[in-house]
Amino acid sequence: MSHITILGIESSCDDTSAAVLRDGIVLSNLTANQSIHEKYGGVVPELASRAHQENILPVVHQALSDARLKLEDIDAVAYTLGPGLMGSLMVGSSFAKGLSIGLNKPLIEVHHMKAHVLAHMIIDDAQEQPEFPFLCLVVSGGHTLIVKAESPMDMTILGTTLDDAAGEAFDKCAKILGFPYPGGPLIDQNANGGDPHRFRFPVSDIPNLDYSFSGLKTAVLYFIRDQVKADPKFIESNLIDICASIQYTIVKTLMQKLELAIKQTGINQVGIAGGVSANSLLRSNLLQLKERGVSAYVPKFEFCTDNAAMIAIYGHYMYKEGFLGKLEASPQARLEF
Ligand code: KG4
Ligand code: ZN
Repeated sequence: MSHITILGIESSCDDTSAAVLRDGIVLSNLTANQSIHEKYGGVVPELASRAHQENILPVVHQALSDARLKLEDIDAVAYTLGPGLMGSLMVGSSFAKGLSIGLNKPLIEVHHMKAHVLAHMIIDDAQEQPEFPFLCLVVSGGHTLIVKAESPMDMTILGTTLDDAAGEAFDKCAKILGFPYPGGPLIDQNANGGDPHRFRFPVSDIPNLDYSFSGLKTAVLYFIRDQVKADPKFIESNLIDICASIQYTIVKTLMQKLELAIKQTGINQVGIAGGVSANSLLRSNLLQLKERGVSAYVPKFEFCTDNAAMIAIYGHYMYKEGFLGKLEASPQARLEF
């Protein structure tokens, strides 16, 4: 049987990534991060697209060289069509189209969020693949979704956030505490050893499987403002307990709806994706589901955050099914799921 070799290109936000997969196995997966955004406290779209423009050629070149392949060995070029930042998406899509024309090889358009879910199917010694159907909690700086994946090409959203994403909630709370962007990982680190029940913040309870995190951010803002008024050293003297309490609240909110989704669908295969899946409490809570007969899957971290290997695995399945892209397709900042 002949091999399927896919070059994946991801440029939806602030990471420029390229990967080569052969038959679903990663031969290379490379990402150039953009540290420039740190000093602005968030991703600056204009700067992101310029950095993609600088990074894309060296990243793709290196991905091919790490895979020990030449451009001619690629069967198709898969790229992120959306959702994401328009200027960033345009760099990846234009590059992919140029390659496709130059090589006379097909293009494959990939939905970034569906690719996060399908990252579970990447074949790697360090991760086990769930069986279909499975549920996936996708939690990043821009998205919070509970997805039901019936097959690689058949996914539906069961729940989403009505306001902030989970990562955004972490980052906004971190900012209130004075941490630099992105503060999610710093809340995680500083929560270590803290008392998660010392300070109580609201766990949103909205109908169905949807989420809301804006109430938490406001509650933390007012709480910290009032406490600091009474004691200017309040944050530093209570940092680990504040971080543990915020983290506990966000993770509890995420887990409550995920557990409800398991109950409602009867599906007991559950995965997680997106940058927030690095969170230590979320990981341990997810793995605890095993005690209740649920199979929990946490992909290797490099496949959880934005990466091109997930774009290439989605491309692999699309290629197998014959879903090829068109040169006329234009990137979409808000691409329907
Ligand atoms: O998926 P990702 O790398 O980028 C996109 O948003 O697309 O996710 C980044 C988000 C940020 O909000 C970051 O603060 C959060 O993931 N994050 C964490 C942790 N590591 C990353 N949040 C909580 N705990 C962590 N350990
Ligand atoms: Zn993402």
